[in-house]
Amino acid sequence: MCYSIPGKVVEIKNNIVSIEYFDSVKRARNDFEKLELGDYVYAQGGFVISKITAKEALKILEVWKELFKELDKQDLQLSQTGSTLTSKANHIRHKTIGNSCCVHGILEISNFCRNNCHYCGIRKDNKSIERYRMSDEKILASVDRAANEFGFKALVLQSGEDPDLINDVFADLIATIRNRFPVLIFLSIGEFPLKLYQKFYKAGARGVLLRFETSNPNIYAKSRPGFKLETRLKLISELKRIGYALITGSILGLPDASVEDHLNDIKCALSLNPEMYSFGPLIPAPTTPFENTKSPNPEMIIEHLARTRMMKEDSNIVVTTALETLDPKARKKALLSGANSLMLNVTPEKYKKLYSIYPKKYGYDKDLKIQIDETINLLHELGRAPTDLSL
Ligand code: 5AD
Ligand code: SF4
Repeated sequence: MCYSIPGKVVEIKNNIVSIEYFDSVKRARNDFEKLELGDYVYAQGGFVISKITAKEALKILEVWKELFKELDKQDLQLSQTGSTLTSKANHIRHKTIGNSCCVHGILEISNFCRNNCHYCGIRKDNKSIERYRMSDEKILASVDRAANEFGFKALVLQSGEDPDLINDVFADLIATIRNRFPVLIFLSIGEFPLKLYQKFYKAGARGVLLRFETSNPNIYAKSRPGFKLETRLKLISELKRIGYALITGSILGLPDASVEDHLNDIKCALSLNPEMYSFGPLIPAPTTPFENTKSPNPEMIIEHLARTRMMKEDSNIVVTTALETLDPKARKKALLSGANSLMLNVTPEKYKKLYSIYPKKYGYDKDLKIQIDETINLLHELGRAPTDLSL
C-alpha cells in the first residue's frame, strides 16, 4: 500500500532483476516492464509492478532515508530480546529476511459459492445470507481506489467458487486491471480447470491463494464433502508449475485435528514450496455443520507461525484475518513471532459485511483509511519497512 518504496534496478538477467533499496538488494521477476539499469521500480511479492521516474523516486527515497535507518535499528533491538519459541522465531526472521514487511489488499468480488465446505459461512446451502457478485465496473472502481487512492501494490481477488464470475470472460477483466493499474494480481477463487488458470496467467495474474485446508485426508473429506485432499494438492502444485506465486496453508482447529495434524500441515505446506504461508484458526460460522466447534487458542496459532519460521527460516508468513478476528492484539504478537506480511480488506463497505465466511471478520466495521493508519503506526512501532520481500 502507501507503505511501499521504490528501488533502483542494479542488475538484469533475463527476466530476473536485482533491485537496490538503500543498503539491501532484492531480486524480483520482471514480466511486465521494459527495464534498463538505473531505472526505478516498485516491486511487490517478488514481481516488478511498475516503473517510476527517477525524479519521483528520489523524492520519495529522500523522505524515507532517515526513517529507514531508524526502522532497521528498532527491528534489530526488538528481535534481540527473549528466549521463548516466538521470540527466537522473530530473531530468525530478522536475521534471514530483515525488516521487510508487505501489506496486500483483499477484494471480495463475489460471495456465491457452488460448494458446501462444513466450516464456511458462505457455503451454498446457507440460504440465510444475501448474495452478491460485483460487476466489472464495480471491481475496476474498487481496484482503482485501492491502487491509486491508497497505493496498494498487490491485490488478492477473492470469491466463493463462482463459475458465473470465474470463466473465460474473467480473463478480460484481469487483462484490463493489469493494463490500467500498477498492481500484482493474486487469485483466491477456488478450484477451476488448469486451462482456465493458464488463461488467467496469460492475462496477467501472477499469484494464487489456495489453501489445502488440512493435511489430514480424513479430516479433509469430512470438512469438504465430495472432495479429496489429493486433488487439491495436485492442483496447487500444477499452479505453481504454471508460474504462479503461491500462498498456501491450512485452517487450524478443524474438528478432530490433533497437534500432530497441525505439525503435518507445516510439513505439507513446506513440500509445496510456497512464496507465502497462510495458517489461521477455524472460526465457527453460524448455520454451518461446524458452528459448535470451539476456536483454537490464538496463542497456539501464533506458536504455529513461529514453528513455521523455525522450519523454513527464509519464508514469508502472513498474519491471517481469522487470527486477527480471534484476538485483535494478535497482529502485533504474530509479527513479533516470525510473521512478516499483512492483508487488509479493501472490499466496499456494502459487500464486506456480506462476505461472511465467519462472523465479525476483523475490520468488517472499520473504515479502510483508519485501518491503514493503524497498520502504518504498528509497522513503524515494530521497525518494519516496505521493501519488497524478494524472490
Ligand atoms: N474459519 C476460518 N477460516 C475459514 N475459511 C473459510 N471458512 C472459514 C472459517 N469459518 C478459509 C478457508 C478458505 C479461505 C478462503 O477461508 O481456508 O480457503
Ligand atoms: Fe466455497 Fe471456499 Fe467457502 Fe468452501 S471455503 S464453501 S469453496 S467459499
